[in-house]
This record gives sequence, structure tokens and C-alpha cells, in this order.
Amino acid sequence: MWISQLDLTQWRNHESTRLACSPGVTVLVGPNGQGKTNVVEAIRYLATLGSHRVASAAPLIRDDQESATVFAQLHHGERNISAGVTLKRHGTNEATLNGNKTKLSEIPRWVSAVMFAPEDAAIVRGEPSFRRHFIDELVLGGSPSMAAVFSDFERVLKQRNSLLKSLRSSSRGADLSTLDAWTESFAQAAAAIVADRVRYLREITPRVAKEYDNLAGGDEIAATYQPRGYVLEDESPESIARAIADALVAVRAEELERGMTLIGPHRDDVEFTIDNKPARTHASQGETWSLALALRLGMAAWLRENRASGDPIIMLDDVFAELDARRREKLVSAITDYEQLIITSAVEDDLPPGLEGTRLDVKNGVVSPR
Ligand SMILES: Nc1ncnc2c1ncn2[C@@H]1O[C@H](COP(=O)(O)OP(=O)(O)OP(=O)(O)O)[C@@H](O)[C@H]1O
Ligand SMILES: [Mg+2]
Repeated sequence: MWISQLDLTQWRNHESTRLACSPGVTVLVGPNGQGKTNVVEAIRYLATLGSHRVASAAPLIRDDQESATVFAQLHHGERNISAGVTLKRHGTNEATLNGNKTKLSEIPRWVSAVMFAPEDAAIVRGEPSFRRHFIDELVLGGSPSMAAVFSDFERVLKQRNSLLKSLRSSSRGADLSTLDAWTESFAQAAAAIVADRVRYLREITPRVAKEYDNLAGGDEIAATYQPRGYVLEDESPESIARAIADALVAVRAEELERGMTLIGPHRDDVEFTIDNKPARTHASQGETWSLALALRLGMAAWLRENRASGDPIIMLDDVFAELDARRREKLVSAITDYEQLIITSAVEDDLPPGLEGTRLDVKNGVVSPR
């Protein structure tokens, strides 16, 4: 798929930006802090309803403004779709598809994108939350309808946590039947997420291993889902829900003491290994980057094969500065045949040959053609 036009209104430092793109390569060039990443972040938002930089929507809205809008004209083969999202500082966010109001969670169905960013090294070496974020992007890419489950999960987790907090402060012998009910709904939503994480991790691993082999050669790559505080007996959502609900009962006293949900997908991790050694603790700088790139390339390859909308949009946010010449070259040759590439760079000289395309200048939230 590809985007022909992207309109940003009061999005980050963009007051009103219109970006016209064609299939092939578009490069956004400009000094630091001008609004390049903000553009690709908007596309990623449509694809995942999340930003790679923040957990809440508020920072995405231009300071001193009440709402931000992202609007995109999308093309899947012969099909044209327009998708829009309005984020509000107060009140409910809104979405449209082809001019008709829709639920926000419908938007990722129509937008498939993979972003490569300097932060990706943290998927390999950083805290578990980076790996959870990665795997959830993959889940959403594979099953866009999971957007509704993720938002349900967040809501139930919040409710359950505030219930635990209020039970903590209430007197002994509190009625725990409400907690039981929330534990049930929590375990249902949690299990749907864990089941898909396990499934998509398995789907993507051979592709990641292949990409790693191409980038770095030789070493064997493996990935294992790591549930924390419960055991995955089998992979059916029913059995996962049971395992999580039982584990939550077992830690109830501690949950009541701490006032928070201690088991679930928000605490799990994924272990990647390179030649049987855990990447998080053992990977060298070079291995870290090869694996981070391989993870994104594996994701892109999977989406390309499986999504009805065709190729995902490939976005590279300032990654060349992080890579040596050999990895740059390998990366370029792995992505050049995707339908659309949107690349940002502060320094034009960092761009390897083979990425000519259209250049756009970004300065102080204004995008202008050369
Ligand atoms: N909510 C917001 N309202 C107004 N301005 C914002 C908001 N969020 C971020 N900015 C501004 O956007 C700018 C950063 O934009 P962005 O991250 O896109 O820069 P960039 O061009 O990618 O820079 P670099 O080359 O350093 O990565 C900063 O100057 C920041 O202050
Ligand atoms: Mg940037």
C-alpha cells in the first residue's frame, strides 16, 4: 500500500502540513528538532494507534491546542481509502473512513506500516516494555481487530487496579466478589493478547532468522515468549485465561497489599537468543543492530505476505546514522522493492546510494518540496 497525501493539523509541531507522496522513495530532510520524526510518527499512529515515543495521546497534540488531526489518502492496489483520526485533549477521540464516522479501533485495518527507528536497539537490549511494544505492533499488524481487545484490556486493567487500591484502603474482610468478576474479565482480555503474541512470535521467527542471516550471517536466532508468574500449558485462549486467573488468585494477598495487578501481558517478556545466548545480556553492539533490523524486516516480510492491503509502508527514521556502511547497504537492498518508503534524515550525506526519490525539506514544522 501507499499514501498519496498526509495532512497533519496541530499535530506536534505541525500546525498545518500537507505532504504529497508517490510510490517509491520520499526523503524528509532537515536539521534536528524540525518535525521529521513527527511526520512518520503520525503514519505509525494510524497503523498502531500508538506512538513509539509516548504512552498517552496528549503530547501528540500541539501545545496550547485542544485537538490534533491526522488525515491520509491511502491506496491498496486499485482501492482508494481516506482515513482520519482526531485526538482530543478532553473528550473522546474520533475517526473517519472515507468520510464516515467510525471507531478509532477500525483505522489500523486500513493502514499497514513498519517503522525502523534508533530506539529499536532497545527491543534487543532494553527493558521488557520495548519487547512487549514490538510484539503488540506485530499482533496488531496481523490482526487489526485486536485494537479493540487492546483498548478493552487497558480499560479493565485500570479498573482492576483502582479496585485493588480501594480494597487496600478499606477495612479487613472487604467483599471480594467484585474483584473476582474483574479478575475474570481481565483474564479473558489478557489471554486473547497472550495467545496472539505467542502465535505471531512463532510466525515471525523464521523470517527474522532469515533476515539476520542475511545481515550478519550464520548465527541461529530464536524467540521464546516468557509469561511471568504463570505457565503456558497450551496455547488456547481458554487455557491461558485459566492459568492467568488461577495465578492471580494465588497472588491475591500481595495484589491487595500493593494495589496493582501483578500478572498479565503487561508484565510478560520475550526472550531473543543469538546462538543460544540471551541477546538482552549478551549481544554486542553490532549484533544488537543486526537483530533489531532483522526484527523489523521480518515484520515487514510477514505483513507483505499476509495483509490483503499488500506491502506495508516502510519508514526509516534516522536509522542510517546508527549503522555502519555494510549494514546500510544490506538494509537498503532489503527494502528498496517495497511499494513506498518514507525516510527521514538530518544529514543528507548519511543516505546511502539507491535511495534517490523525492526530497522534502522540513523546517520548524513546515514541509516544502525542493
Ligand atoms: N505537542 C507538541 N507541540 C508543539 N511542539 C512539539 C510537540 N511535541 C514535540 N514538539 C516539537 O517538535 C520538535 C521535534 O520534532 P521531531 O522529533 O519530529 O524532530 P526531528 O526533525 O525528527 O529531529 P531530529 O533530527 O533531532 O530527530 C521539537 O522541537 C519539539 O519541541
Ligand atoms: Mg527525529
